[in-house]
Amino acid sequence: MCGIVGYIGRKERAQDVILDGLRRLEYRGYDSAGIAINHGDELRVVRTLGKLLNLESALRDVPLVGAVGIGHTRWATHGRPSERNAHPHRVGTVALIHNGIVENYLSLAKELQSAGCELTSDTDTEVIAHLIYEARKSGAGLIEAVRETVSRIEGSYAIAVIDERESDRIVVAKNGGSPAIVAPGDGEAFLASDIPAILPYTRQMIPLEDGDIALLRAESIEIFDAAGTRIEREIRRIQWDPVRAEKGGYDRFMQKEIYEQPRAISDTIGARALEEQGEIDLDGIELDPKWVEELRGIHLIAMGTARHACLIGADIFERAARIPATVDFSAEYRYRDPVVGDRHLLIPVSQSGETTDTVVAARAGRERGARTLAVCNTQDSTIARECDDVLYTHCGPEIGVASTKCFTGQIVALYLIALRLGRLRGTLDRGAVREAIVDLRRLPRLVERALQSWNAIEQVSRRYAHFSNFLFLGRGLGYPVAMEGALKLKEISYIHAEGYAAGEMKHGPIALIDEQMPVLLVATGSPTYEKVLANAAEARARGGIVIAIADEGNTEIRDYADDVLFVPPAPEPLSAVLATIPLQIFAYQIATLKGTDVDQPRNLAKSVTVE
Ligand code: G6P
Repeated sequence: MCGIVGYIGRKERAQDVILDGLRRLEYRGYDSAGIAINHGDELRVVRTLGKLLNLESALRDVPLVGAVGIGHTRWATHGRPSERNAHPHRVGTVALIHNGIVENYLSLAKELQSAGCELTSDTDTEVIAHLIYEARKSGAGLIEAVRETVSRIEGSYAIAVIDERESDRIVVAKNGGSPAIVAPGDGEAFLASDIPAILPYTRQMIPLEDGDIALLRAESIEIFDAAGTRIEREIRRIQWDPVRAEKGGYDRFMQKEIYEQPRAISDTIGARALEEQGEIDLDGIELDPKWVEELRGIHLIAMGTARHACLIGADIFERAARIPATVDFSAEYRYRDPVVGDRHLLIPVSQSGETTDTVVAARAGRERGARTLAVCNTQDSTIARECDDVLYTHCGPEIGVASTKCFTGQIVALYLIALRLGRLRGTLDRGAVREAIVDLRRLPRLVERALQSWNAIEQVSRRYAHFSNFLFLGRGLGYPVAMEGALKLKEISYIHAEGYAAGEMKHGPIALIDEQMPVLLVATGSPTYEKVLANAAEARARGGIVIAIADEGNTEIRDYADDVLFVPPAPEPLSAVLATIPLQIFAYQIATLKGTDVDQPRNLAKSVTVE
């Protein structure tokens, strides 16, 4: 969390590029924002509390002119959101921005205070700026001062530093779970936490690795290791289309991203599904059939929405490939003692590829010998780089904090992997895979049809926007879909919502059901459909209001539900994708009616890069 961005190049451009970059990174945090610009040998800093808009209006009257600058958008960890805790932190001639956590900041702060330094914020970051400035006072150049300082920091950091006495450069350093990319332009150079910030300016980037220290000048980017030795890092080409990171006429990114699902799904299937052969090609990823045959298990790890996709994935793996599959929160997996080794396939699933818990859990599994195959949306992200293999979801940049198109993209990617494993293990024959491919290829059109019900869903959501509690129920694949529906609603509308396995309803949640707690019930075609109907009847018998998600053409459902949101019927597991669409729209519409900030809901950040 927190977004960092920096620019060095042409004189009139720094403030504009940095503000634009911050706008594109605001999904990483929006508690405060700030900018520091070096103009000649004068450094100026402006910081404001709250969203970027406040910084923009502060700069409207007094713009900062200069060719070198850094900017930050904050998601508060140490120190509440306030102007004094906002970045950049300035100490003497130095200004610094930071994403991450300094774990030993208390001992460093004590040491600085006993040496006479006055700390003016409650952040862990400020100590870094002091240490760099102290090193500068002792005669170190900026890059040496950063090198000395980072050797004393425990924790994770992506920092960028400028100094008015070395105004031709920005020094960037990275370690741990905080991502940083640097990028060359034409007589200019950029740095950012994430690709969207630099998308409009360059098609090239270098993701920094742990321990890297980069020296950015307008004409060059040099990277050094912790010992100060120059290292070469490959320049990667950015695949994302800049237009995809724009709102493109939609009111909100989330709305646009919900509508983008047919394209995202079809791009994720891409050329991987070979219909004629009845085979799946996972971008050439080689899986030894003997190893696959002997697999003891698949472990799926993720957080948030991605974990819900994993729950669906696990079910698919067991059915299609008959391999035991488990799902864990990455944050739990890394701290327990999982039975995992070289006969296991570990699948970390992550939109950003930067969620710290998932990065670390994947490393832990890999260290124990598991083969790691990431499902990831962000090119060359930490998880993508560190895993043995990566199967990208081609959903394009997802900016709305609440994940939508990447959820359905992840289900599709996991399905492709399951089909491939099924073929290798002989649990699926070519005919079965061919049939699955035909269904997959129809999926984008079915999703398009489900999206056509937007207005109907909007009408229904108007009737429910005033409720304070919702229960989401589903069975089988409908259960993770219910959890995802509940998560979407609470994330963006701040309404209390719980997702439960419908079969569990009678073991507790039923006590909550009354006319004040509507039940959203996933009742699309499945082997447990009749049982779900029974749950609807039980809820209504207790005064509950039922809103069902059901297949078009289902005529009996109206007898069981007060309202019905219809989706085109599809075979499992694709029915899970279709059942999700009305729940995304329902949450979106309720949040819109409540007037919340749908794209940047309070307290959340899109990339959680702290534990
Ligand atoms: C945050 C986001 C969620 C996302 C989760 C996992 O909580 O707000 O939308 O599902 O992180 O993120 P990842 O990038 O690993 O998929």
